[in-house]
Order: sequence, then structure tokens, then C-alpha cells
Amino acid sequence: MPTADLLTPGRIGGLDTPNRLMMAPMTRSRALAGGVPSELAIEYYAQRASAGLIITEGVAPTAVGLGYARTPAVETGEQIAAWKKITDAVKAKGGRMFMQFMHVGRIGHSANRYTSEPLVAPSAVRANAQIWTDAHGLQDMDTPRALETGEIPGVIEGFAQATRNALEAGFDGVELHAASGYLPMQFLSTGTNTRTDGYGGSAQHRIRFVVETLEAMIAAAGGAAKVGMKISPAIPFNDIQDDDPIETYTTLVKAVAPMGLGYLHVLRTPPIPNIFEVLRPLYPGTFAVGGGFELESGNRAVASGLADFVVIGKPFTSNPDLAERFAGGLELTPFDATTFYSPGAKGYTDFLPAAVRAGESDVAVGL
Ligand SMILES: Cc1cc2nc3c(=O)[nH]c(=O)nc-3n(C[C@H](O)[C@H](O)[C@H](O)COP(=O)(O)O)c2cc1C
Repeated sequence: MPTADLLTPGRIGGLDTPNRLMMAPMTRSRALAGGVPSELAIEYYAQRASAGLIITEGVAPTAVGLGYARTPAVETGEQIAAWKKITDAVKAKGGRMFMQFMHVGRIGHSANRYTSEPLVAPSAVRANAQIWTDAHGLQDMDTPRALETGEIPGVIEGFAQATRNALEAGFDGVELHAASGYLPMQFLSTGTNTRTDGYGGSAQHRIRFVVETLEAMIAAAGGAAKVGMKISPAIPFNDIQDDDPIETYTTLVKAVAPMGLGYLHVLRTPPIPNIFEVLRPLYPGTFAVGGGFELESGNRAVASGLADFVVIGKPFTSNPDLAERFAGGLELTPFDATTFYSPGAKGYTDFLPAAVRAGESDVAVGL
């Protein structure tokens, strides 16, 4: 059998895929007021349907979990109906799609929220960072309220209900965002989790929130294959800090390995350059790697057995047909970071597939 590479058909989350390319979850800040995804998102995601698996931008499971300007949720009937239009469009183009649940925990500002409830976190430790608000520009993050032990089952149930909502909206599965310093990672990390109950202290206790949330999502989804997870050990982002990330994440990955998740997505960041080599031997299931990959490095990761899938982010913003471009050896359009989070179509839906661009005049190509 020839060696597999990025463009070899694969299987993930119980789905057959035409390639091993995952579109990374990417917040694009184009949602409407009240956490409703916009009509523009229908076209944006449908344009990217040739990815092996699309992961949505971070979506708040509940209003309390939403912290950024113009970001979506999946709690109300209006939000679910808007997501359904998106999955319909992606499916009509033959695509597959998981929704990422991003509960921000302590990362947020009241001006970005459509609930008057305060931010919640494992401990009342404010993130020493600023966040964009449309109303007042950059602001210091709010100080979160520490969750009572007795409230935690309710937070976890929020993820279970969001799972049911996402499946109702036509998603093939759901991903727990346990990376980038948001609520699950706040529980995992010693700097943000100073609890003295069964959810804080030892690594076994700090992983408990994540494990129980995954269990609840699996029960709600009716199977572990429909649930994935993203982690980013030691990422220097959102003021997150852990005394011993290797201990924390080896403990977590060993606990999660028997669950039979659809996949584990590990984002490699500079503090631990060999994190894939550390975690891969502990995880027999579908293993997806991300962080700065392109065609050659992605091919190598799959061919060497380091990864089953490769997650690509920024290049997908400006190359909706990334799989076709890789397959055809076509040039990639450079991404434009100035439009990552800006409202409107510019930099969002106006990067066209190479096949379309080739048939157009030079004037139209400069998008
Ligand atoms: C504009 C932008 C928004 C992002 N939003 C999210 C997000 O909502 N959830 C998430 O897990 N990661 C998010 N990320 C991180 C990506 O998923 C990915 O891990 C990161 O960009 C590294 O992959 P790359 O080097 O291929 O871009 C975002 C990245 C970018 C560039």
C-alpha cells in the first residue's frame, strides 16, 4: 500500500473524508447581535466544503460562555436555526462539519455580552490582558466570579444541551475547546485554578472538569465518535499559566484515551516543541496536529505516522479551496490578518477559489 499523505482519504469522527485536512476553528467576529451567526457565514463555510472536516469558529454553548465581540452561540432557537442554514449549505456541497464549543470562562468583557450575568471561572483570578469591545475599544478583562462546587454540574449540562442543539442544527459532531486559555483550560491550569474542592489541586483533580464535560457531551451526542477535543499545552495566550504542563497533559490524555473520541487535536506552541512526540504514544485514537502546517510538513506528519489528520488555520482564510490547491500544486493566496476579525465580507467571503479566479480578469483577482 502506498504511504498515506494529507490528500489520502481518511476517517474521523465516524465520517469518511476525501483528505486528511481539517479546517481549524477560527473566530471571525461576523456574528449578529445576540450571538446569531450571520448570513455571510453560510457562504464562508460552504466555500470551504472540500476540507476533510470543517471545525467552526468558537461557539458559546451558553450566553455566559460568550466573551468576544460579534461571536456566535448555540443556545436559542434563533441561533440554532441560523446554524442549520450553514450546515445545509455545507452538506449541499458535500462537506462535513463539527461545531467547536468555546466557553470563555474568565476571558471577556460585559460590553460584548448579551447576558448581564458576570463571567465565571474556576477561581476569581482576572486575566491580565485586554480585549476588544465595539462600544469602548480595548478594555481590561472583567474579573470573573468563582464557580461554586454545586454549580459545576449545571455548567457541564450547558455543554450537553449545546451538543443536542448542534446536532439538531445538522452538525456531524462537536469539539470541546480545551485550549487557548478558555474555561476548560482554566480548570486544567494551576495559575487559574486555585480551588480546594475535587476540581482543583492535583492534576487528577484539575482534569476532572474536562473529563466530566466530555462524558456529558458523549452521552448527549449518543456516541464518542461525534465528540472531539482541542488542547494547546503551555500556549502563551490569554495570561494562562501552568506549573507543569507535561504532567497536566499526560494525565489528561491518559484519562481521555479510553473514551474513544472522534479525535484529539493538539496545537503545538513554542514552549513545548516536541509535544506531539510526547502525547502521540499515549493516544491510540485519531490524532490531529496543528500549528503552522503546510502541504509538505503536513504530508510528512501523516506519512510518518505522527498524525492521522493535519489542522490548518490561517491559509484557509484566504484559500477556500485549500485541498484543491494542494492537490493541483497551485500557489496559495497569502492571508490578510487585518481582516481576520473585521465585520463584513471583505477578507471573509471574497477570497475566491483558484478555478474561479483563473477565469476572471486580473482586476477581479486582486481580492
Ligand atoms: C483568526 C483566527 C481565529 C482563531 N480562532 C480560534 C477559535 O475560535 N478557536 C480555536 O480553537 N482556535 C482558534 N484559532 C487558532 C487556530 O485554530 C489554529 O490553532 C492556529 O491558527 C494555528 O494554526 P495555523 O498555524 O495553521 O493558523 C484562531 C486562529 C486565527 C488565525
